[in-house]
Amino acid sequence: MDILEAIKERRSTYSFKREEVNPEVLKQIFTYGSYAPTHYMTEAWQIKLYQSQGRKAFIDAIIASYRRIGMIKDNDDPKTLRMIESMTSFLMTIPHHALIYFEKDNDPIRYEEEYASVAAFIQNAQLAAWEYGVGMLWTITAYMHDPEFMAEIGLNSDNYKVAAVLQIGYPDKLSRDKGRTPIENKMEIIDE
Ligand SMILES: Cc1cc2nc3c(=O)[nH]c(=O)nc-3n(C[C@H](O)[C@H](O)[C@H](O)COP(=O)(O)O)c2cc1C
Repeated sequence: MDILEAIKERRSTYSFKREEVNPEVLKQIFTYGSYAPTHYMTEAWQIKLYQSQGRKAFIDAIIASYRRIGMIKDNDDPKTLRMIESMTSFLMTIPHHALIYFEKDNDPIRYEEEYASVAAFIQNAQLAAWEYGVGMLWTITAYMHDPEFMAEIGLNSDNYKVAAVLQIGYPDKLSRDKGRTPIENKMEIIDE
């Protein structure tokens, strides 16, 4: 696929087939991701890839965080337990969860450079994935700011920032193209 076509045709994936993506294909996808621009060549992106049996503890940590931060009620009422059960089984249907993180820098400019570069890495990976017929959903949610969640997955929140979790697999349904605002509406040309 032509790169311009891929940029326009890639869609976020909300519904995945159960089939896993071949590890070699995932490696290729993230290798393409890593050709993102990176100031000082720091290549700050790091990945924790949860799949197969590895997903359960990760998902349990997400649920525990949602309870702590109040996104799920912290009680054992049947309604709460049903909600947890349904959230867990939905997340377990997604074949791969890639947590993308990077080491924090105390210098705010360096921090922004790293974050921006990691975002470019993610978009490169999304586009490469699309070329392989693999779908992704780029997610940012509240648990990523929960130090206890970070500790549960083995990261110290003083030193590391979670940039995103990518849900990955073969698309079951294609989501609709929402289109984009004409860029002229967002562009101011200053030429004198
Ligand atoms: C930084 C970032 C975070 C996002 N977080 C979420 C999310 O948490 N949940 C979600 O459903 N979509 C999330 N999205 C996906 C956007 O909703 C999606 O890109 C947008 O609706 C445009 O659709 P498209 O990607 O199919 O063009 C996120 C996208 C970005 C760039």
